[in-house]
Amino acid sequence: MRKLPSTGTIEIAPSILSADFSRLGEHIAQIERHVKILHLDIMDGHFVPNLTIGPVVVKRIRPHSQLFFDVHLMIDDAPKYAPEFVKAGADGITFHLEAVSDPRKMIKQLRDLGASVGISIKPGTPVSELEPVVADVDMVLLMTVEPGFGGQSFLPESLRRAEELRKMLRDDQRLEVDGGIYPSTTPAIVRAGADTLVAGNAIFGRESPADAVKAIYESATANT
Ligand code: DX5
Ligand code: ZN
Repeated sequence: MRKLPSTGTIEIAPSILSADFSRLGEHIAQIERHVKILHLDIMDGHFVPNLTIGPVVVKRIRPHSQLFFDVHLMIDDAPKYAPEFVKAGADGITFHLEAVSDPRKMIKQLRDLGASVGISIKPGTPVSELEPVVADVDMVLLMTVEPGFGGQSFLPESLRRAEELRKMLRDDQRLEVDGGIYPSTTPAIVRAGADTLVAGNAIFGRESPADAVKAIYESATANT
């Protein structure tokens, strides 16, 4: 199983939610050499009002990519389905604090499966609620839009939340942000402490996903 890239770098994680699902392999090939992480959004129609893909699709795309598969579970029953996604080829699993009754148990389950561990909070959940478990994860995923759909606008209060979170994290833990990430929103969120940038529409909504990745990367590093 692949490990998350070590900290100290800015990484861009294209979200296939905005890709053309009839040409998924082609779309992944377009960004394969330009990033290290691929972000896969799993939705169940309960935790969020949208439905996406299950382990079957993850398994089908696994042989076509060497990237770290960053599986973002936006589902009610994360403990039940996490093993299926790992078996299908997930390298890291991020679950929502709001969806799980015992986050410690969930973290232990993912460690036992050998996966990297991420924990996520929605925009309405106070950052402080992560305090009891934050030391035990590899990455925190701060939602910068309400989860469920691509193409929404970045919520400006995310900047303050990212700063607050960064202070709670060690240097070896990543801070991922997800939602409304474009070259225009990247500099401020990177300054606030984010180092892992999920982008869907900004990459797969463009004619050249590879050029779009470069544009985000340049905007992220221009201010450092
Ligand atoms: C939204 C998903 C995101 C989504 C982001 O619930 O978690 O990963 O693909 O899309 P953009 O970058 O278009 O806001
Ligand atoms: Zn996501």
